[in-house]
Formats: sequence, structure tokens, C-alpha cells
Amino acid sequence: MKRFKIISIIIIINLLINNNILVAESECNGDPDICDLYFYQVTFAGTHNSAAYNLTYDCDNLADRCLLEFGSNSCSDQYETCKQNRTTSCDIQTSVFKDWNPSYFQWTGDLFNIICKTNDILCVAWYTICKKSANVCEFLRDSCKKKDISNETLECLWENNEGTPIKKQLEDGIRFLDLDTCQVGNESVVFCHGTSIRRALGIDLDSVFLDIKEFMEDNPNEILNMEFGDYDGNATFISDYIQNKLEYYFVNGSGYSLMLQEKNGWPKLSEMIEINQRIVIWFASLYDSNNTRDWVHSVESYFIPSYTYTVGDLTAQQLNESFTGWSNNVSNVTAYDLKTYGRIRWQAIDATVVLGLIGIEEAIKNGTDLGILCLKDLALEVNYDLLDYFFDIFKDKFPFIIRVTLDFYPQSNLFEVVKKSNQLNVQKNITISI
Ligand SMILES: *[C@@H]1O[C@H](CO)[C@@H](O)[C@H](O)[C@H]1NC(C)=O
Ligand SMILES: *[C@@H]1O[C@H](CO)[C@@H](O)[C@H](O)[C@H]1NC(C)=O
Ligand SMILES: *[C@@H]1O[C@H](CO)[C@@H](O)[C@H](O)[C@H]1NC(C)=O
Ligand SMILES: *[C@@H]1O[C@H](CO)[C@@H](O)[C@H](O)[C@H]1NC(C)=O
Ligand SMILES: *[C@@H]1O[C@H](CO)[C@@H](O)[C@H](O)[C@H]1NC(C)=O
Ligand SMILES: *[C@@H]1O[C@H](CO)[C@@H](O)[C@H](O)[C@H]1NC(C)=O
Ligand SMILES: *[C@@H]1O[C@H](CO)[C@@H](O)[C@H](O)[C@H]1NC(C)=O
Ligand SMILES: *[C@@H]1O[C@H](CO)[C@@H](O)[C@H](O)[C@H]1NC(C)=O
Ligand SMILES: *[C@@H]1O[C@H](CO)[C@@H](O)[C@H](O)[C@H]1NC(C)=O
Ligand SMILES: *[C@@H]1O[C@H](CO)[C@@H](O)[C@H](O)[C@H]1NC(C)=O
Ligand SMILES: *[C@@H]1O[C@H](CO)[C@@H](O)[C@H](O)[C@H]1NC(C)=O
Ligand SMILES: *[C@@H]1O[C@H](CO)[C@@H](O)[C@H](O)[C@H]1NC(C)=O
Repeated sequence: MKRFKIISIIIIINLLINNNILVAESECNGDPDICDLYFYQVTFAGTHNSAAYNLTYDCDNLADRCLLEFGSNSCSDQYETCKQNRTTSCDIQTSVFKDWNPSYFQWTGDLFNIICKTNDILCVAWYTICKKSANVCEFLRDSCKKKDISNETLECLWENNEGTPIKKQLEDGIRFLDLDTCQVGNESVVFCHGTSIRRALGIDLDSVFLDIKEFMEDNPNEILNMEFGDYDGNATFISDYIQNKLEYYFVNGSGYSLMLQEKNGWPKLSEMIEINQRIVIWFASLYDSNNTRDWVHSVESYFIPSYTYTVGDLTAQQLNESFTGWSNNVSNVTAYDLKTYGRIRWQAIDATVVLGLIGIEEAIKNGTDLGILCLKDLALEVNYDLLDYFFDIFKDKFPFIIRVTLDFYPQSNLFEVVKKSNQLNVQKNITISI
């Protein structure tokens, strides 16, 4: 009895090992058919604002922006400007004054002009108003911190991937991350969503990079894209910060980089696995050819995020119009790319509806129900039929679709569409020289 058990355990272990070896030899991102495709021939499943979860509204930033407009320093500056330009301002004020008054009162205007030009009174008055406004900024900071912007409201407006942290996204098969970053103070950069006074701050880079490192080590046949998209703060500082962190996590002690350096054209997925350079780094507007390591690639040089032509779409219908317009524009797009880049860039289907933030701040202050403005509800209108439709109108017109990107992918056709796209990619097998 006992021996039988041991033998069957050995058989099971053998089966597991053999099976693992088979998988390791023949699958790329879980699909044996795409190993022989070049990187640019493959479609990756992606998320939009991948790290937009666990956010907190940045009350300090809100107040700092406010102070920049009305703070003590700028009040003094404005006071100085006012004094320097007093002659001009007084003349303007005087002529306005005269226009308003009947002719027998015109002399008051001249009197005003004389007083104005010999006295700083106007400028002093402005300075006082300006300083008062600075107090309002501090009031705003206070009330923002204390109150009542509920977590539900915050999640609803800013969190594209609430409930699915990046670790989970990787386990589920997401292979194209879109990461927005914000500078906080002078020393640090965190993931975030939004810019300026409308930004909400998220978690730090370390915990996410560590999760990614562990996942990549545990899964030697997986290939991952990380794009650093929108940012808020000093571009040079943020770019350096991100690159240093990436280097820390993904280049080992012997200088060996897990991040692809694409020196002699794009490799096949099987080759990326073989040389163990399985992370592709993308910088969008942060890209600066003078200040990037050789494993940083420029988005603009290689592909067209659909955000470039869907920006401002607030409804699913508008999004449909933009995608339809773009797919009808194929000959112009192709001609432009050939002329500008000497080759056809890859397309992206980023099927996400951008929130119209106008009115939202007001609604928050009013405590009004935000209803259909929530990202999650907007995503549901896009993630099924419309996503299928976008793929259908793109698939025969454009040679390469590098990614399909969504908000709230757990409720979507994302993986089905990506699978279909890759089956077609294998059939089409269109190659280019870059
Ligand atoms: C695509 O075609 C090339 C030859 O042009 C071939 O080497 C490669 O195996 C093909 N890829 C697939 C996935 O069939
Ligand atoms: C995010 O918040 C949830 C609860 O809201 C918590 O369980 C989780 O640990 C947080 N994740 C991170 C990465 O902080
Ligand atoms: C003063 O006013 C003139 C004309 O309106 C303007 O061109 C100039 O820049 C102003 N000077 C300062 C210091 O703002
Ligand atoms: C809202 O989120 C903050 C920070 O994520 C947390 O500390 C707080 O407990 C949450 N409040 C509620 C009511 O869930
Ligand atoms: C950040 O740096 C600027 C310029 O170096 C300095 O004026 C400012 O006080 C610093 N802020 C903080 C919070 O350290
Ligand atoms: C931006 O950051 C870089 C690098 O940290 C620094 O040299 C530069 O002075 C900063 N620019 C501004 C406008 O603060
Ligand atoms: C770095 O990675 C390379 C390739 O995987 C390996 O040969 C080398 O031993 C590693 N070095 C260290 C210090 O881990
Ligand atoms: C990079 O450097 C070159 C020459 O050194 C310069 O002409 C170019 O403007 C720089 N580009 C950026 C983005 O700073
Ligand atoms: C393509 O370009 C032509 C000529 O510039 C223009 O008339 C046409 O409207 C463009 N098509 C689209 C869909 O933008
Ligand atoms: C068509 O493509 C051209 C070239 O890329 C672009 O400038 C234009 O805005 C596009 N038009 C539409 C309607 O998408
Ligand atoms: C907020 O309240 C003001 C005053 O009642 C109203 O005029 C405005 O339309 C409200 N805004 C929103 C977005 O509900
Ligand atoms: C998108 O718009 C086209 C017309 O431009 C329409 O035929 C199609 O049904 C729409 N798709 C969806 C899913 O609404």
C-alpha cells in the first residue's frame, strides 16, 4: 500500500516535470504559435493607467498650485509689476473712469489720474486682495484634507484598475502596462492619475517593480511591455528617477539587463526568451534622446497610441466615431508615416473613454451624484461589442496592432480579441526591416 503510494507520487512528479519542460520549450506569453513572430508582429493585452488604484487625492498639491497663483511671493511680484506700470495702468483706469461719467464730472477723472500716478494706492489694494487669496488656498488645503471627498467618489473618478493590482494583472495575462507618474516634492516620484490640481497619487515604484521582477523570474517565457506615459512634474527629474529604479530592479550585479536593448532590429519572441531580455521599456512624452539609456524606446517612433486621436472623447459613441474615422484614414496615415519615418508605424487600440473633468470638481463640492461619469460604468459600454468592432475595422487595414488596452479588463472581451489578433498575425506574418 505504502509502496504503491510512493510510486504513484514519483509518477506524478515526473509528469509535472516533463510537462513543465514541454511548456518552457514551446510557449511564448502562453501561446506556442507566436514564438516565431518578431516582437512587432505580436499583439499584447494591456491596461490603461495600470497603476491607477489605491489612490489618494493630493490635497497639498492642490493647495500649492493655488499658492503659486496667489501666494505671498507672487503677490509681491505682482505688486512690483503694478508699481512699474503704474503710469499705463492709471491712464487706462482714467479713460474707463471718464467713459462712465457725465462730462461735468470729467474733472474727477483727471484728479484720479494725478492721485493714481503719485500714489501706490491701487497696487496696495491689489496686494491686500492677493494676500487674502493666499489664505483661501490654505483653507482649501485644510478642508480637502479633513473632508468629505469620499473614497467611492475618488475610486469612481480616478481608478482605472481598482481591485486589480499589477501583480494580479500579470497573473491574468496583461503584458502591456501603461504607467503614469507624478513628482512629489523634490525627492520622489509615485504612480498617479491626472495632472495639476486634478491629480490623485498612488503607490511607490518599488513595490510594483519588485512584483514585476518576481513575476518575470518565476515565468521565464513571458514578455512584458512597460510604458511610462503621462507625467506631472519636472520631466528630467522624473525620467532620471524612473531609469535609476528600473536599472536597480532589472539590471543585475554583472550588468546584465532583463530589459531589451534593440540594437540590430527587433528580435523574435523566442529570441527574447533565449537571451533573457524580456521587458520592453517605452517612454512617451518623457522620451529625450539625450537623456535615455539604451533600453528605453520612444513610443512616437514606433507606434501610434490611439489616445492621440481619441483624446477628448467622453462617450462610447464618440470613441466609435474616432476609431471609425482613423480606420477610414488608412491611406493618409500610411502616407504620412512613410514620409516621416520611412516605415509604417504600429497601431494601438486603446479603447478607453477619457473622463471630462470639467464639472467634476464642482460636482464634488456640491456633493452631486456622479453617476455615469464613473470610469467603471463607462468602460462597460466599450469593453465588449465596441471592442470587437474596433478590432474588425483595424485588422485588415493596418499591418501591426501592438496592443489592445482597456479600463477594467476583468469585465471585457480583451483576451479573446488579443487571441484573435495573434492568430491573424501568425497567418499574415508581415515582416518589415527597421
Ligand atoms: C514568417 O515567415 C518567415 C519567413 O519569411 C519564417 O521564417 C517564419 O517562421 C514565419 N513565421 C511564422 C509564425 O510562421
Ligand atoms: C490597496 O487597497 C486595498 C484595500 O482597499 C488593500 O487590500 C491593498 O493591500 C492595497 N494595495 C496596495 C498595493 O497598497
Ligand atoms: C507694463 O505694461 C506694458 C504694456 O501693457 C507691458 O508690455 C509690459 O510687459 C509691462 N511690464 C511689466 C513689468 O509687466
Ligand atoms: C479611504 O481611503 C483611505 C486611504 O486609502 C483610508 O485610510 C480610509 O480608511 C478610507 N475610508 C473609508 C471610509 O473607507
Ligand atoms: C525644492 O527645491 C526648490 C529649489 O531647489 C526649493 O526652493 C524648495 O524649497 C524645495 N522644496 C522642498 C519641499 O524641499
Ligand atoms: C529639473 O530637474 C533637473 C534634474 O533633477 C534639474 O537639473 C533642473 O534644474 C530641474 N528643472 C527645474 C525647472 O526645476
Ligand atoms: C546576471 O545575469 C546573467 C544572465 O542571466 C548571469 O549569467 C549572471 O550570473 C548574473 N549575475 C549576477 C551577479 O547575478
Ligand atoms: C539633444 O542634443 C542635441 C545636440 O547635442 C540638441 O540639438 C537637441 O536639441 C537635444 N535634444 C533635446 C530633446 O534636448
Ligand atoms: C486624407 O487627406 C486628404 C488630402 O489631404 C484629405 O482631403 C482627406 O480629408 C483626408 N482623409 C481623412 C479621413 O482625414
Ligand atoms: C488622417 O491621418 C493624417 C496623417 O496621420 C492625420 O494628420 C489626420 O489628422 C488624420 N485624420 C483623421 C480624421 O483621423
Ligand atoms: C453646483 O451647484 C451650483 C449652485 O447650486 C450649480 O449652479 C451648479 O450647476 C452645480 N454644479 C454641478 C456640477 O452640479
Ligand atoms: C460604431 O459606429 C458604426 C458606424 O460608424 C456602426 O455601424 C456600429 O454599429 C457602431 N458600433 C457599435 C458597437 O456601436
